[in-house]
Amino acid sequence: PGALPLTGRHVLVTSGPTHEPIDPVRFLANRSSGQQGHAIAAALAALGARVTLVAGPVAIPDPQGVETLHVETAREMMAACEAALPADAAVFAAAVADWRPAEPAAQKMKKPLDQSAPPLALVPNPDILATLSRHPQRPELVIGFAAETERVIEHAQAKLARKGCDWIVANDVSGDAMGGAENTVHLVTHHGVEHWPRLPKVEVAARLADRVAEALHP
Ligand code: C5P
Repeated sequence: PGALPLTGRHVLVTSGPTHEPIDPVRFLANRSSGQQGHAIAAALAALGARVTLVAGPVAIPDPQGVETLHVETAREMMAACEAALPADAAVFAAAVADWRPAEPAAQKMKKPLDQSAPPLALVPNPDILATLSRHPQRPELVIGFAAETERVIEHAQAKLARKGCDWIVANDVSGDAMGGAENTVHLVTHHGVEHWPRLPKVEVAARLADRVAEALHP
């Protein structure tokens, strides 16, 4: 009585991009800002959860009251997530690089004298969401994200089945959601689809945290 709804719960959150080294000074990355994932971590903490945020390289501050672990690569993010278990729930909001250079060069790569470009062989990164969804210590509630520009719901439902998670937050990025302050999302579960209005990202975070609290309630 009087306690916040997520008091005593541990929630794992990933956020931001990953950086995959090509050589000591170059990397592959993407445009994720970490805004939505960090807001989710803060919203869960505001409901009383102990939150472990595994953050890729971002330019925004660590959320207050959240244990934030900083990583660079997808493999480091995976290791940090596994080390953070057990957790009651996990929200995988990071934009993890799908591939990494197969063998990062130990020294800065030199421009070939004949103006050719060096080959860049890629190998797939581990899928953190799929791996944790099938982990022996799987959190009770596993939530993934899906950014889509078309057939948003269909793609999210397929992803729900493929990844083995419980919910997918389907992100309609056909408009200006990428990098913007607002987001249009649909909550896709095994029971159906809930359409949310276009909302500020902090409001999306607050609503999702409320849903997590409801779902974890005994
Ligand atoms: O397959 P796709 O990358 O579209 O799936 C997106 C969801 O999967 C997000 O929740 C993202 O955080 C997660 N993911 C992951 N590890 C990867 C790729 C995606 O956790 N290597």
